[in-house]
Amino acid sequence: MSGINYSEKIPNNVNLSSDRTLQRALEHWQPNYLQWWQDMGPEASQNMDVYLRTAVSVQPDGWAHFDYVKMPEYRWGIFLTPQDGQRKIHFGEHMGSDVWQDAPGEHRANLRRIIVTQGDTEPASVEQQRHLGLTAPSLYDLRNLFQVNVEEGRHLWAMVYLLHRYFGRDGREEADALLQRNSGSEDSPRILGAFNEKTPDWLAFYMFTYFTDRDGKFQLSALAESAFDPLARTTKFMLTEEAHHMFVGESGVSRVLQRTAQVMNELKTNDPEALRKAGVIDLQTIQRYINFHYSVTIDLFGADQSSNAAIFYSAGLKGRYEEGKRTDDHRLNNDTYKILQVVNGELKEIEVPMLNALNEVLRDDFIKDTVAGVSRWNKVLEKHGIDFRLTVPHKAFNRKIGSLSGVKVSPDGQVLSEDQWNNHVNDWLPTDEDRAFVASLMGRVVEPGKFANWIAPPVIGINRQPIDFQYVRFN
Ligand SMILES: [Fe+2]
Ligand SMILES: [Fe+2]
Repeated sequence: MSGINYSEKIPNNVNLSSDRTLQRALEHWQPNYLQWWQDMGPEASQNMDVYLRTAVSVQPDGWAHFDYVKMPEYRWGIFLTPQDGQRKIHFGEHMGSDVWQDAPGEHRANLRRIIVTQGDTEPASVEQQRHLGLTAPSLYDLRNLFQVNVEEGRHLWAMVYLLHRYFGRDGREEADALLQRNSGSEDSPRILGAFNEKTPDWLAFYMFTYFTDRDGKFQLSALAESAFDPLARTTKFMLTEEAHHMFVGESGVSRVLQRTAQVMNELKTNDPEALRKAGVIDLQTIQRYINFHYSVTIDLFGADQSSNAAIFYSAGLKGRYEEGKRTDDHRLNNDTYKILQVVNGELKEIEVPMLNALNEVLRDDFIKDTVAGVSRWNKVLEKHGIDFRLTVPHKAFNRKIGSLSGVKVSPDGQVLSEDQWNNHVNDWLPTDEDRAFVASLMGRVVEPGKFANWIAPPVIGINRQPIDFQYVRFN
């Protein structure tokens, strides 16, 4: 089951040719996908040869093959981790029963909604990033951007396969609609807010891949626990690819910090204006970008109390992050969880039934993971002898979803009046001027081994290639 068949139009390890109707339906969707890639995918990139990895197996060791590929010829396919015939549902009301190989009638609508919502984020991020190739700070970075883009395209394929295979006509219609909504569109935007924001520059791209692809990791991890086995197996393999996306973000921000710290030391200054004049991004601006991307991303986990979250869990559709490692009863009917609420204009912790707070549980797991990476960024500053420390803002800062959206809160957690917020918001979120400054630094660097002035080179290349490797050929 784990071998991938590359002789077919759609590479797959799900024995697609044994189901001619399904195969035809997906082969019919394929040209629409390619048209979407032409129209909405990376701009002016169709002819480039890009040193990309392609999945050739779903085994953890040696699953990827690296070679030059023109992106429209990338072999987007359908890859699920092998079926484990023994797998049992391990949380919720059906705990102990066999997992489902089909979508049960009573859960169809919810499963379809979960799959569509996940599927919608994948092409959205490609759309958000489509102009970035024009201003890549190096060939190495350009290649990483394109790697992320083709894999998000494959993640769309992963969800479209489930829709076509298990959800009949409704599923096929949803698969078409995934190519019709567009990030930031007035008439038919993407489903979730963060996926309608712009990713206008490379600092935003690194922040996006660090924070927002990490939201992907947590959502996919929760779905990898699902009682609906095809969803669990699909998302498991998507997680293998996702790790690289977060690496691009974490290492990208590290390299920006390293370069800024170098120049701070060379010029013996921490004055943002002097640093901007020297062509690097000041730490205050980086902090404002963190504040923005962090707050927009934690909104993606949804309302802090949600009856849907409870239903999804109890029905076995969506588990918790690392469900299998937890030692409670995996039903949670008698458990509670502390969430933040606004009570008389103040933030108060209140205890609510855990089942209703599962969005918050996942958000808190995400926050823990995020904070760990930010402290690794601070290590870069520490190593250069710089006192400044980056932080993530308070959970209630700049929220648009859930009860915390009803209150203005500073990054350090003070509840503010509207006036106080307005007086300080430019210290906390990227201003037009910040964005214009960062945009002014962006310009494509195409010489192998050369990097834009505002970012340090990486420590090692891709697939053990040297840093000055020709990662992209323009033709
Ligand atoms: Fe993805
Ligand atoms: Fe991703």
